[in-house]
Amino acid sequence: MSYLESVAQFYSEVAETPQVGLCCVQSSPLQLPGLNIPGKMQEMNYGCGTTVHATELAGNPTVLYVGVGGGLEALQFAYFSRQPGAVIAVDPVEMMREAARQNLQMAAQENDWFDPSFVEIREGDAFHLPVADASVDVVAQNCLFNIFEPADLAKALQEVYRVLKPGGRLLMSDPIATRPIPEHLQQDERLRAMCLSGALTYERYVQHLVQAGFGQVEIRARRPYRLLDRQSYGLEEHLLLESLDSVSFKVSIPDDGACIFTGKTAIYTGLEPFFDDQAGHVLQRGLPAAVCDKTAAKLAATIPDVIVTSSTWHYDGGGCC
Ligand SMILES: C[S@@+](CC[C@H](N)C(=O)[O-])C[C@H]1O[C@@H](n2cnc3c(N)ncnc32)[C@H](O)[C@@H]1O
Repeated sequence: MSYLESVAQFYSEVAETPQVGLCCVQSSPLQLPGLNIPGKMQEMNYGCGTTVHATELAGNPTVLYVGVGGGLEALQFAYFSRQPGAVIAVDPVEMMREAARQNLQMAAQENDWFDPSFVEIREGDAFHLPVADASVDVVAQNCLFNIFEPADLAKALQEVYRVLKPGGRLLMSDPIATRPIPEHLQQDERLRAMCLSGALTYERYVQHLVQAGFGQVEIRARRPYRLLDRQSYGLEEHLLLESLDSVSFKVSIPDDGACIFTGKTAIYTGLEPFFDDQAGHVLQRGLPAAVCDKTAAKLAATIPDVIVTSSTWHYDGGGCC
């Protein structure tokens, strides 16, 4: 059996018998006014953060959700669109698709505004998404891509890139590792399926996104997720996993490299009213301007009158590149 088949088998099991906290959820799911989440759907919250960012959902985008789980985030996306078929949810595991269907029926009973036709559940997998090229505005996945081995992750990201419209966005939430996960844990298929041993470091995770062609990546949240303690996992030192929420844009990669926003700002401290670097960045004296990491590094290295602040690991628009 390949590791992907083991993963599918694992999710068949947890579709039938929900395991609360399987993916170590930090807090209760995103609560929205007028949205009642059925109890079973909450129990099947197998994500590690959130991919539902209201600011990405203006203009009635078509959302393709990969790895439906119990349907929680598909329901949350439908909360914003409220139209038949505006959310397409894909999963290769029949039991999981069936569980999501039942949970969405329950959601319809508990929410007047919701109709199950708002979410169309399709059979498919991350490597063969059942939609045409450049046909969706938003792709979302929560706690799935971290399960994939690096070569498969690259394939899944290429597939996302294929189906996104130009300018479209990929909303992701995944665990990342604070140092490379040792081989013996990476080879453990059950731990991998549980989102515990496939995680990449932050640098490699972002590198995969850029290699897939995403020209802009914004980090929305980064927080501790779970500790792999040295006693239980045969490690020399404890290993902290973090959860990373990000939004990546299908825009071309600038000649000098992709723009990765992690919440840094640049502040001009000189005597003039503003500083213009003649490369598209105008900094008003004393006012923090959001900049991507590439620009932050350039300014810090070349302009003595500019202070660069640290990454906040939260960026949601504004500023310059
Ligand atoms: C960790 S769960 C996350 C579920 C959901 N995103 C959530 O946040 O609750 C992973 C989901 O991906 C599905 N899955 C497993 N292998 C997949 C694949 N190759 N392509 C797409 N989905 C897959 C599983 O059946 C399961 O529904």
